[in-house]
Amino acid sequence: MSMQKTITVASLAILWTGAAQGLAGQNVPALKDVFKDTFLIGGALNRPLVTGKDPNAAAIAAKHFNTATPENDLKWQLVHPQPNQYNWEPGDGFVAFCEKNKLFAVGHCLVWHAQTPRWVFQDEAGNTLTRDALLVRMKDHIMTVAGHYRGRIKGWDVVNEALNDSGALRDDARGPWFRIIGQGDPNKKYDHIENAFRWAHEADPEAELYYNDYNLEVSKAKCDAAVALVKYLKSKGLRIDGVGIQLHGGLTYPSVQGLEYALTNLAATGVKVMITELDIRTQNRAPRGADVSQVNRQSTSDANAATAETQKRLADKYVEIFSVLLQHKKDISRVTFWGVCDKTSWIGGSPLLFDQNYEPKEAFFAVVKAAQQ
Ligand code: XIL
Repeated sequence: MSMQKTITVASLAILWTGAAQGLAGQNVPALKDVFKDTFLIGGALNRPLVTGKDPNAAAIAAKHFNTATPENDLKWQLVHPQPNQYNWEPGDGFVAFCEKNKLFAVGHCLVWHAQTPRWVFQDEAGNTLTRDALLVRMKDHIMTVAGHYRGRIKGWDVVNEALNDSGALRDDARGPWFRIIGQGDPNKKYDHIENAFRWAHEADPEAELYYNDYNLEVSKAKCDAAVALVKYLKSKGLRIDGVGIQLHGGLTYPSVQGLEYALTNLAATGVKVMITELDIRTQNRAPRGADVSQVNRQSTSDANAATAETQKRLADKYVEIFSVLLQHKKDISRVTFWGVCDKTSWIGGSPLLFDQNYEPKEAFFAVVKAAQQ
């Protein structure tokens, strides 16, 4: 072997060792094993992960998760960008990844005010759609999307974020589902939600159906409104299997009491409770909750995120949250993180269990220890 070749082989070996180390702390226990007797554990997957462009993130998902949600690819804007155009490739890739790695695939989401194109609410002349026409459009979308994944996507976030923190139904000008379908007549106020659940069940009778929202663990009024909504859907004989508490938290919230209130009261309606979008914001100055119009990585980038003190506080907060979840494990079917590692988190900072280099953090080890005790 020539000198040059020897050097090349040696440097390849070094590169390989580096890459292998980068493969997501392969020596640590898998979260899905740690929590195997408690709940499913998962994360939101983005497109680079699913398509093989981010193999380190894919390795974390394959090793640690037994459930996953697509971070964006099944939102209306992505899967149904134009009236007669469905874009299946990204969602199909997500589902294929789940099947290959034996992950329980959750669909997110059928009806939401955000990431929904403007045309959805307008007629061809650009005027606001009538109530009946919007219902037809909603039905068509749900039947088509949930129908396409029938038998493969195991649970759907049917309606996402239909409530305000005050507990009132969300009246959002950008996503006027309630404004057009439900407002004005108290007897019709849940019509946009009720019909979405009816059609999702029609599209895939086997799929579990969920209502998903944020700040349920922060606002009692909002949690009470979600409880009322579940009771209403049940009173109509509709299928609803669970409520998703997104749980976009911060270093100082939610409180233990707030989280317990939500878990107890939602479970009392007889549905499963799931934590669907867990992350903990490390920034001091940042919006609370998960209003997507206020959050972006720039506005939330923070030099303090990586400091030892912040990481310690993050680990403590995760332990506090998981201790509550473990106490309520009989009511909780799943815990899903909103992302895989800090490098690609939607809020920037240092909100997850794996760092910028795909390595498990102090918070990871603290959560594992809490589960094992
Ligand atoms: C976020 C994604 O993570 C971002 O990539 C996207 O730009 C905006 O939406 N609540 C939800 C999720 O239900 O769909 C949102 O996901 C985060 C808040």
